[in-house]
Amino acid sequence: MNVSNNKRANIIVILIIAANFSLPHVSESSQECKEWLVQSIPIDMPHLPRVPGVLSTGDVFQWLAGNSSKRLDIIAQYWELLAAPDDPRSRDYGYSKANMQEFGAKEGYDVYKAIENAADRNVNVRYDYLSHSGVYPEYTTEPSNLASGRPNVKNVTLLLGEWYGSGIVHAKVWISDHRDVYIRSANQDWKSLTQLTQNQFGMNNGKLIEQFLAGYFIDPKERCRSPLPPYVEIPLVAGYPTLSDPYMFKISVQTPGYSNSTLWPHFNCLSFSPPELLLGTYQADEQAWVDTIKSVGSGSIVRINTMDWLGQSEYMTPTVYRSSISSAISEVVFSKQATVKLLVAYWKYSISNADQYLKFLLDSNVLCSSSKYNDCAGKVEIKYYKVPGFNLTGPAKFPIGTSTGNIYPGFTRVNHGKYVVSDVRAHVATSNLVWDYFYVTAGVSFGTYTPAIVSQLQQVFDADWNSPYAVPIKAFQLSC
Ligand SMILES: *[C@@H]1O[C@H](CO)[C@@H](O)[C@H](O)[C@H]1NC(C)=O
Ligand SMILES: *[C@@H]1O[C@H](CO)[C@@H](O)[C@H](O)[C@H]1NC(C)=O
Ligand SMILES: *[C@@H]1O[C@H](CO)[C@@H](O)[C@H](O)[C@H]1NC(C)=O
Ligand SMILES: *[C@@H]1O[C@H](CO)[C@@H](O)[C@H](O)[C@H]1NC(C)=O
Repeated sequence: MNVSNNKRANIIVILIIAANFSLPHVSESSQECKEWLVQSIPIDMPHLPRVPGVLSTGDVFQWLAGNSSKRLDIIAQYWELLAAPDDPRSRDYGYSKANMQEFGAKEGYDVYKAIENAADRNVNVRYDYLSHSGVYPEYTTEPSNLASGRPNVKNVTLLLGEWYGSGIVHAKVWISDHRDVYIRSANQDWKSLTQLTQNQFGMNNGKLIEQFLAGYFIDPKERCRSPLPPYVEIPLVAGYPTLSDPYMFKISVQTPGYSNSTLWPHFNCLSFSPPELLLGTYQADEQAWVDTIKSVGSGSIVRINTMDWLGQSEYMTPTVYRSSISSAISEVVFSKQATVKLLVAYWKYSISNADQYLKFLLDSNVLCSSSKYNDCAGKVEIKYYKVPGFNLTGPAKFPIGTSTGNIYPGFTRVNHGKYVVSDVRAHVATSNLVWDYFYVTAGVSFGTYTPAIVSQLQQVFDADWNSPYAVPIKAFQLSC
């Protein structure tokens, strides 16, 4: 499954919590935690207002690496922190030094250096490189170079396909000193810092992380005895096992980026895909999306931001039809009078039949008011997010040296963020809204009921939604 190459992001939500968690199912802790939202905003988007108090992805990466004193664990789908404008095989090929400077490529270099410095400080660094073997043309070069000659650095490729027959690791996580955790949509490349929108979460400390690590970071010697189950049995259920009581932890958090007022404890949770990684405890990522949509209060708003949208699988044979997310949306429109605002990326690699599925969803508005007996005040609104320059991306030159006419490097200029926020719950995710991501792709997401994070994420969404870069899509035209 070659999902990896064409995914980039735009909004970043990060959450850093510092807490002492303890199992089981609902735990409370009095220890202090902090949460932030983190965002990447592409350059050349002058009409996008900035939301105060939201951190920048590049800064957060550098801080995590810079502050780690004992260990740094990184899960990445692929690495391309160093731009390669001189390599004819690269999507950066042919851009000048001045161009690269403008594009913000230095930020990727700075992050790379911060990781290298951590490695030189003798911090134990582990890269689990959750992809197949990286992407063309660099593949495993960057983590391999960092591991080379440094016994304190471990570089491991997890070939998910060898365990499960299919799938890549799409999860993107940093853990510093087993304390600060960062969960994100942003890939490990320079473009995710300055050319794409992204979202992430972070948290801090404890048992939860230990358990999480036990699942993900497998000692190479143990590879043949993975602690992950080879499959899970789901009797009589079409789809994921729905846990009635997924693991959640209740904590008081400070949100220095927004307000300091929330010291009341609220629920937080991690969710995972595929089902084999739930470890019998966590919520499935698809379920977390559905639950967050359904958490909306009567007459309130659900805001959804995604790169991809498709009511079916993209890479499976035979094709799987899956309407869980769109059904949840129609349900709250009908029964909770909710307004659902859906922002979907429109770029060079948009999925060709996404448009039909979106228009199909938009038809919920017609159905909702199709009977005089319907008490219909809810609605769906859908916009495409077009980052300027999205249709002029790729190398600046052909390998023979002639100009391509592109003005930005390949696989840039896209809204890559994935999150949903109701009036009470926020869910910051790795997965695109496509069947494959929930069922055969490894992903990690974070959900929270912390009101300050919920409000701030709504603000981040509204800044995008109300910007000139978000263009409404029209319902099907009836032709008679
Ligand atoms: C450590 O993190 C803080 C932010 O929490 C940052 O201001 C500081 O520069 C970081 N230190 C290093 C060495 O990166
Ligand atoms: C890093 O991992 C890659 C992929 O598994 C492997 O080919 C390479 O030899 C490793 N490099 C080092 C220095 O361990
Ligand atoms: C939030 O509270 C902490 C501890 O009470 C304090 O150190 C910090 O300065 C406060 N931050 C803001 C933004 O008010
Ligand atoms: C790129 O997209 C913009 C905005 O949709 C459009 O005006 C322009 O003609 C497109 N350019 C090309 C080369 O397709």
